[in-house]
Amino acid sequence: MKHTPVYVSQEEMMQQERAIEQILLLPNKPNSFHIVTYGCQMNAHDSEKLAGILLKMGMTEADDRKHADIVLFNTCCIRDNAERRALGNVNWLRQLRKQKPNLLIGVCGCMVQQPEMAQRILKQYKFIDLAFGTHNLHCLPEMMLSLLTNEKRVVDVIDQENLIAEGVPIKRLHSYHAYTTIMYGCDNYCSYCIVPYVRGRERSRLMSDVLKEAEGLAASGVQEIMLLGQNVNSYGNSSENGDTFPKLLAELDQIGIPRIRFMTSHPKDLSDDLIDVMAGSKHICNHFHLPIQSGNNEILRRMNRRYTREDYLDKVQKLRKAMPNVGITTDFIVSFPGETEEQFQDTCSLVREVGFDSAFTFIYSPRPGTKAAEMDGMIPPEESSRRIGELLLEVERSSARVYDQMIGKDEYVLVDGFAKRDPTMVAGKGTRSITVKFKGTADDIGKIIPVRITSAAATVLQGERI
Ligand code: 5AD
Ligand code: SF4
Repeated sequence: MKHTPVYVSQEEMMQQERAIEQILLLPNKPNSFHIVTYGCQMNAHDSEKLAGILLKMGMTEADDRKHADIVLFNTCCIRDNAERRALGNVNWLRQLRKQKPNLLIGVCGCMVQQPEMAQRILKQYKFIDLAFGTHNLHCLPEMMLSLLTNEKRVVDVIDQENLIAEGVPIKRLHSYHAYTTIMYGCDNYCSYCIVPYVRGRERSRLMSDVLKEAEGLAASGVQEIMLLGQNVNSYGNSSENGDTFPKLLAELDQIGIPRIRFMTSHPKDLSDDLIDVMAGSKHICNHFHLPIQSGNNEILRRMNRRYTREDYLDKVQKLRKAMPNVGITTDFIVSFPGETEEQFQDTCSLVREVGFDSAFTFIYSPRPGTKAAEMDGMIPPEESSRRIGELLLEVERSSARVYDQMIGKDEYVLVDGFAKRDPTMVAGKGTRSITVKFKGTADDIGKIIPVRITSAAATVLQGERI
C-alpha cells in the first residue's frame, strides 16, 4: 500500500535551530546529558540523533546517569520485559533525584508512543519532566526550550504517522561504522507485533538523500554502513519515483564504502532482483538476516506472515545458489497462542533444514492492541521455557556446524574492540556477521583485517592475522 510521506519543512527545521540558539543563551540550561537506549538498532540510531541535538545545545555527554543533568530513556515495547525494564530504571532515577533535585528525567521512543501512554505518564509518572514518542524526535529543541523556560512538564506525543525529517544532527557512536535509516515504519501488521502501531506507516527516504548521506560517510572514512528499516525489502514502495531496494543497493555499491549491510528483511518481499544485485556486488556483505518466526504453516498464517515454510526454504535455496558463502540468521517466536508441540517441532526441524549461522529466539509476549493479544491458547511459562531451551540447543548445534566449516577459511574482520576477558586479542565481525577474535592491539580497532580461521568456540571464531 502506498502512503505518501510528509517531509518536515525547511521552515520547521529552522524553527528548531532557533530554539537551540535560545537554549544556548539560557542561564539554567543543563550542562550534561546521558541517554539510556533499549531495543533495536533503529532505537540506537535514534539515540545518536538525540545526542546530536543535545550536543548542539552546548551540553556534554556524561558517561554515567549519575553524572548527568538530564537523563533520557529511549524506550522499546516490542516485548513486555523491554517495557518493564525501562520503567524500572526510570523509577530508580526518581531516587537519584532526591539527592539531585535539579535532575531532569525524560522518556521517549516506542513505549511512549503507545496509545494511552501519554495519559499514563501525565497521571501516574508525575516525576517525568519530558516525554515524547517516535514521530517528533526532531522537535526536541522546542520541547527542551519549553521545559526550561516554562518550568512545566512537557508531554508531547503526536500521532502523525507519516513524517520524514531530514537534516537532524547525528552524533555517531563510532567513526568506522554508521547506521543509516532508509525507511521508517511498517505496514505488515504481523499479528503479534506492536511496531506498526508505534513506528507509523511505512515510508521511505528519497534515494538521493540516502546516497548523499552515504557519500558523506564514505568521505569521512566509514568502513561499514548498516542500512536500517523494519522491512528494507519494501524500500521505495511508498514513493512514486520507482526507487527500489535493489536499485538503492546497486548505487550504494558504487560509492566505495568497504562494507554494506542491511536489516531487517521480510521473507515475502525478498526478490530475485535483490539476490542478483547482492551476488554481483563488491561491497554488500554475504549475510542475510531473514526472520522466519515459525517453521509451521498454520502458525505462520495466524501470525499474518504471508509466506509458507516452503516459500522460505525456496528463497534460502536461491540465496545459497547465487552466493554459496552466504550466512543466514533469523528470529523465532516460540509459544505463539495455541502453538502445539507438533507445530513447535516444525520450528526445530526447520533449524536443522536451513542451517542458520545463528538466531534470536523469543518467547511470545502479548502486546495490547495487536490481533494475537486477543487469541486464546496462551502457553504456560514453564512450557515456554522448555520450548525456548530446546530451540536454543537446536540453534547452537546449527551454529557449531557452520562454525566448524569456517575453519581454514579466510575472513575480513572489522575490528570493534578487545576480545572479552583477553586483552591480547581483538574481535569484530567477519563479512558473514560472525564474531572473530585474533591477536591484536588497539591500533587495529576500526580497521578491516584479513584473518585465517583456526578454531571455533560456541559464539566466536578464532583466527590468525594473514
Ligand atoms: N513477542 C515476542 N517476540 C516478538 N517479536 C516481535 N514481537 C514480538 C512479541 N510480541 C520478535 C520477532 C521480531 C523481533 C524483532 O522481535 O521475532 O522479528
Ligand atoms: Fe513487526 Fe512484522 Fe513489521 Fe517486522 S514485519 S516490524 S515483525 S509487523
